[in-house]
Amino acid sequence: MKYYQALTCSILLSLSTGMAVGQPLPALPEAATQFIDSLIQAMTIEEKTGQLTLFTSDIDVTGPTMRENYKEDILSGKVGAIFNAYGAAYTRDLQRMAVEETRLGIPLLFGYDVIHGHRTIFPIPLGETASWDLEAIEKAARIAAVEASSEGLHWTFAPMVDVARDPRWGRIAEGAGEDTYLGTKVAVARVKGFQGNDLRAENTVLACTKHFAAYGAAQAGRDYNTVDISEMVLRETYLPPFEATVEAGVATFMTSFNELFGVPATGSEFLLTDILKEEWNFQGFVVTDYTSINEMIPHGVAADEKEAGALAINAGVDMDMQGAVFYNHLPALVKEGKVSEATVDEAVRRVLEAKYRLGLFEDPYRYSNEQREQDSVMTEAHWAVARDVARKSIVLLKNDNNVLPLEKSGTVAVIGPLADNQKELIGSWSAAGDWKTSTSLLEGIRQQVGQQAKVVYAKGANINDDSTQLFQEAVEVANSADVIVLALGEEALMSGEAASRSDINLPGVQLALAQELQKTGKPMVVVLMNGRPLTINWLDDNVPAILETWFLGQQAGHAIADVLFGDYNPSGKLPVTFPRNVGQVPIYYNHKNTGRPFDQENKYTTKYLDVANEPLYPFGYGLSYTTFAYSDLTLSSQTLQANDSLQVSVTVRNTGEVAGHEVVQLYVRDLVGSITRPVKELKGFQKIGLNPGASQTVTFTIKPEDLAFYHSDLSFKPEAGQFKVFVGGNSEEVQEIDFTLAL
Ligand code: GLC
Repeated sequence: MKYYQALTCSILLSLSTGMAVGQPLPALPEAATQFIDSLIQAMTIEEKTGQLTLFTSDIDVTGPTMRENYKEDILSGKVGAIFNAYGAAYTRDLQRMAVEETRLGIPLLFGYDVIHGHRTIFPIPLGETASWDLEAIEKAARIAAVEASSEGLHWTFAPMVDVARDPRWGRIAEGAGEDTYLGTKVAVARVKGFQGNDLRAENTVLACTKHFAAYGAAQAGRDYNTVDISEMVLRETYLPPFEATVEAGVATFMTSFNELFGVPATGSEFLLTDILKEEWNFQGFVVTDYTSINEMIPHGVAADEKEAGALAINAGVDMDMQGAVFYNHLPALVKEGKVSEATVDEAVRRVLEAKYRLGLFEDPYRYSNEQREQDSVMTEAHWAVARDVARKSIVLLKNDNNVLPLEKSGTVAVIGPLADNQKELIGSWSAAGDWKTSTSLLEGIRQQVGQQAKVVYAKGANINDDSTQLFQEAVEVANSADVIVLALGEEALMSGEAASRSDINLPGVQLALAQELQKTGKPMVVVLMNGRPLTINWLDDNVPAILETWFLGQQAGHAIADVLFGDYNPSGKLPVTFPRNVGQVPIYYNHKNTGRPFDQENKYTTKYLDVANEPLYPFGYGLSYTTFAYSDLTLSSQTLQANDSLQVSVTVRNTGEVAGHEVVQLYVRDLVGSITRPVKELKGFQKIGLNPGASQTVTFTIKPEDLAFYHSDLSFKPEAGQFKVFVGGNSEEVQEIDFTLAL
């Protein structure tokens, strides 16, 4: 029996970590702390270093380097966690090596990028956010955790909570879009879904809030590029989703690749210790991003890996992902007094506590259960949820003359490079998802209407080349049909990591294909499949109906067909602004007013000579097959007093012919402040369902603390004065009413 097993059998079996969903990580019971203390005391510096080392297995590659001899690393006790390894049998085998064949038998952690599903793949996170359905988002993460944990995984490197206002940045696909408030709500929903209410449960995993911090502010939208923002903007725009996940009990954080205030995040004591561990009292552990310690050399803040290692662990990093910097240098750094053993022990403690919270010391094999694996992965129930979340994520951008929903009759031409495509549907970061299990749009339509309508197909073009050879066939197929469904967009890996685009038009000759097909005069619906906002002005001007479907996962074909033929009334709203051209970027709804706000009549106001200021589609925008009318916007009082609250009520009526869901959005504006304030800020939303003719009064509550902002001295507080409240179905079409904040 291993050292610690003799020590702890009685302790472990009696202890729960008392975790409550949505609450900060609780301190461990005293006996657990004693157990961990005794284990640390028994460890050599090499074994301690091992607990702070994370290496990749050889199943998947998610970064620029791979190690060959990770199994020898396990046997020598010099690695404490493995990522990109999953499967009950495989993880059990690796775990056995660590538990049975090393001196102390400390169990391994198995981590993986389960970002939007493990085997059952849900919409990419940006798409899922377009559902504005926090319950659905939490449910998707819950299923991802059930499947991942059934295959031996303890830890997912998600949620990615980087606010992103630049669609050139490929990783905009992985987060919750441009808004801090929406991003905060979504981040918490994902943490709750992954971690559940008991980390010792076999179907929950550690979540990992990433990438800390402000990675989405990369200049020019170019991945890994410099971030240069003020601390006021950092705290007001980028940090709230991170802090909210700490309050929700997230177990781990991941550093970002970028520099901030001239220091790479991986070496930033300000971020990792001052803010995360002290100001926010984070009790989990911090892992770096892939070799981001090593990258402090090209960043230019460390002359060599040893110096980078000292910088990282002294700043607050606990675990080194794949860089082998701690592995190669930490014992020497301690011996040379450049890193104190107390610092190492604190990092080791945080990692051992995570393993303890998972129950791994009690049963290291609890997550590697072949039977549970067979019973839990890609079940019918999971597919059904994936289809439902996918449908809810679809945004109807345009529907002139009610071209949609389509009739389940006649001849439907399904055309485009993404029409009969399964591979792209699961998007970037699709974990163990198998694209061959995806339902393409063509197949989804065939299954939906194949008995009542004739479905014809042509590819028309490739996604990203200049060949027009397939145009003629597509035009012929279109001429044989009553309606065209044209599937256009990006390849899955044109977004995600290391996938920034300077031109966010449709790639290749897809627009030319749309223009050729438009000449047939047939009614046409464009279905977009993309990982970022695209500039689609011609489509908006010339195509009567446009659906934004992101990359919806394996159930994409069914979900889109459900919407196309009216079996589901689209209810999604954009979590990110769609610009008219890339020159408008960065463009976002909660911008400042400036001293010369746009005035058509005045040359000397903020504008472009060649494009309007307004986006093509604003934040929060999305249509329905029905219509909604807003009325009776009222406040419980004209004045909001300190320590009081204000109720905002509005009546929403379904004024159309079919049932539908509306995301009622609440925005505020602080008209005068000691710091300039945005023209609008999202402060609440509610997704409601209404039958035709039905109405519902929706009420929001505003408190003074909801109106707080950062001042020049970085104090965070509201200011008395005049405010506007806006309520509507997107950030532009709103009704407004005024109130006074009296403090
Ligand atoms: C990647 C990504 C990060 C991911 C990690 C492990 O470089 O930046 O999001 O979790 O490496 O794959």
